[in-house]
Amino acid sequence: METAEIRRRWLRYFEQQGHTVVPSASLVSPDPALLFTVAGMVPFIPYLTGQQIPPYPRATSVQKCVRTLDIDEVGKTTRHGTFFQMNGNFSFGDYFKEGAIGYAWELVTGSQDDGGYGFDPDTIWVTVYEDDDEAEQLWRKVAGLPGERIQRRGRKDNYWHTGAAGPGGPCSEIYVDRGPQHGREGGPVVDEDRYLEIWNLVFMQYQLADVRSKEDFAIVSELPAKNIDTGMGLERVAYLLQGVDNLYEIDEVAPVLRRAAELAGARYGADPAADVRLRVVADHVRAGLMLVGDGVTPTNEGGGYVLRRLLRRAVRAMRLLGVGEPVLPELLTVSRDVMSRSYPELLTDWERIASVVAAEEEVFLRTLSAGTTILDVAVREAKEERAQHPRLSGERAFQLHDTYGFPIDLTLEMAAEQGVEVDADGFRELMRAQKERARADAVAKRGGRADTSAYRDLLTEHGLTEWLAHTTLSTESTVLGVLDGGAPVPAAGAGRVVEVVLDRTPFYAESGGQDADAGAITWDGGRAEVLDVQRPLKGLVVHQARVLEGELATGERVLAQVDPDWRRDARQAHSGTHVVHAALREVLGPQALQSGSFNRPGYLRLDFSWKGALAPQQRSDVEDVANRAVRDDLPVDVREMPLEQARAEGALALFGETYGERVRVVDIGGPWSRELCGGTHVSSSAQIGPLVVTGESSVGASARRIEAAVGMDGFRYLARERDLVQQVSGLLKVQRDDVVDRVGQLLAQLREADRELAALRTAQVLARAASLAASAEDVGGVALVAADAGPVASADDLRALALDVRGRLGDSRPAAVALVGVARERPVVVVATTAAGRGAGVRAGALVRAAAQALGGGGGGKDDVAQGGGSDATALPAALQAVRAAVAATTGS
Ligand code: SER
Repeated sequence: METAEIRRRWLRYFEQQGHTVVPSASLVSPDPALLFTVAGMVPFIPYLTGQQIPPYPRATSVQKCVRTLDIDEVGKTTRHGTFFQMNGNFSFGDYFKEGAIGYAWELVTGSQDDGGYGFDPDTIWVTVYEDDDEAEQLWRKVAGLPGERIQRRGRKDNYWHTGAAGPGGPCSEIYVDRGPQHGREGGPVVDEDRYLEIWNLVFMQYQLADVRSKEDFAIVSELPAKNIDTGMGLERVAYLLQGVDNLYEIDEVAPVLRRAAELAGARYGADPAADVRLRVVADHVRAGLMLVGDGVTPTNEGGGYVLRRLLRRAVRAMRLLGVGEPVLPELLTVSRDVMSRSYPELLTDWERIASVVAAEEEVFLRTLSAGTTILDVAVREAKEERAQHPRLSGERAFQLHDTYGFPIDLTLEMAAEQGVEVDADGFRELMRAQKERARADAVAKRGGRADTSAYRDLLTEHGLTEWLAHTTLSTESTVLGVLDGGAPVPAAGAGRVVEVVLDRTPFYAESGGQDADAGAITWDGGRAEVLDVQRPLKGLVVHQARVLEGELATGERVLAQVDPDWRRDARQAHSGTHVVHAALREVLGPQALQSGSFNRPGYLRLDFSWKGALAPQQRSDVEDVANRAVRDDLPVDVREMPLEQARAEGALALFGETYGERVRVVDIGGPWSRELCGGTHVSSSAQIGPLVVTGESSVGASARRIEAAVGMDGFRYLARERDLVQQVSGLLKVQRDDVVDRVGQLLAQLREADRELAALRTAQVLARAASLAASAEDVGGVALVAADAGPVASADDLRALALDVRGRLGDSRPAAVALVGVARERPVVVVATTAAGRGAGVRAGALVRAAAQALGGGGGGKDDVAQGGGSDATALPAALQAVRAAVAATTGS
């Protein structure tokens, strides 16, 4: 049975059982505690915890998921994939254990002719949580399962949570016995390869906190309702129903594996080590495709880092299979062809996806060759340092990883090939410290803490913040909670910076690239300034505020007011961002798609997929198109609609965002600019005001950043430029239009004057050569010129002079020239010897060292010419004296 058919049957079955079919959410998790969507339930967390009222009592979905915890297992087992799809059915306080078990049994064992999956009931085993007698009874009653095929397990196996604070509960898992050829008898507790888990039924009933591991967590409270969250691994069922050995060989993955084998000239199945690599490639290419499809780009942190690692592991695996050329474009296309049957957006967005992935491979291949050279140097040094048991330090391995993107497994492997060990523990410690820093940064940026339980408590107690950012700038509200240093406090006095949660707020919380509003919270006898506004949990707005006067207490009635000037400018900047985006796409084409943005009053920046710098003409065209759109005073229309309709209307869904069922679509000039957006906007484009592009730069291999000043700031930027030109034309005493010509003339004159000056200086220096040569003194038969040449433009001038003097003395005369001088306030010394002088044992290098030592510095060179310097200009006479003494010592005089 094709994977697509398994998916269809799932949705059809649960739709028939009264479930609303919900499309897959983005792989970028809507829950801030998680990096990626790790399970089908993630988009439903607010419904499971009761933070939001579910719009339906039952739902079903096939959710795209990514999990990378077991990345090292990929390819080695039959069942570990980083990208997978999870079929889920969910009940929000509707049916519970009996319903979930009944549906699961019917679908798993129902005949294929009747729309089921047709598994033989005799091959089904289940597990239940250790004290869940009820679940065991239900399996006996509903499914007629004999007691020996129902096994009990503890927290580690039969309790489910997301790995972060949130909902959780005991679970019951369904396994299929693949037969004695796959392992030992005895059920899943004995062998999880033979007994393959296909479906997990979670009885979600508790709120969990302090989640430290699968087993170590605290149960905080009961959820408002008893819910069901189930997840069936689509790929696992596919591999059982397609009669293949593992999930890398199913219809949606195998074509990539086969193509990779062709490229490598390998036969899949011939060599177990090569097979693992081929499976890694097949898995990672697909995961990379899906992640880039959902807007993730390769970076060095967070989700971007995970993606980078997946793509690089795929490239690396291919190299180990003997393919050094770029492979991803081809493999990605194969993966697209199979995956786009279920995810057609992969086709419409193909150009962008392909260019992101190809650029990453290019960068990595360059890294590999640069890193190899650097690694070779490090290995050589390690061997020089310690011939016996050479060892590469953790710092060096970390540097290779951090600066050159050289993966540690590669360092380990390549160092080992050359007989050098690597301090992997030291490396891991540095990695851990770096991750810790990154995590702390990310948490600080969100204005929240890693532990979101205080926020969750507020949500559970008071429900969602009534959010009025789109309707008013000022409202009366009640303080629901004050957090100081992350902990709830009854009140906070003047000077404290605290987090404040209100029952309703007009403040825009930073999101969708728009900065948070600024403003004030005032109350009887007090005032606080709002510094930042964030939404650490969906539906909960948290203000960071500094109490300026009085005491801000929980329960206080307050007036929350957004600074109207701030908001007006913020609206200009956000609408300006949309206009620049549309202008970019008009000028460069639709592949210039936004990959990130940030805007605050007066300023906007937008990152977009594009290779190479914009030509000056393209840049000014973008500015021109944007300002025409402003001039045309296009209407700005904001509408709410179902996601599907927005897609059908061609709205650009900006990635990294996740959307509920109904979305907000912002049009500027009808379809010219149509984006999904929750931000605040002007009501017609003329209100944006001047839009001035102030910068265009690179952000990574395949993305550019454009920056602009907007509104009054745009005007001020231009006014400043005008003033500058005015000042320059005043100084030059020419008309503005002649400024450039005049500066060009002046520069040419300056260059000419510089040339003349240099020639003069050289002539002047050389003019002294004759008198210096004449001043030679006799030191033990050697003619020694030891003189202070005074200030010189550079040590080179002094050198030229010394060589000239030496020439005048003649090579056959035993002679040495030692000149000191001051170049750019630093004492310098140059010594030159004639051939006969060297014959008499006088060496320039030795004399320079003697002089430089007196100058408090160092120097060196060959026997014939050497130069040095120092720091103490008052010691020049002493330096000359040292040279005299050295010559005297050499000649024995
Ligand atoms: N959330 C559970 C899981 O991921 C069931 O959907 O296994």
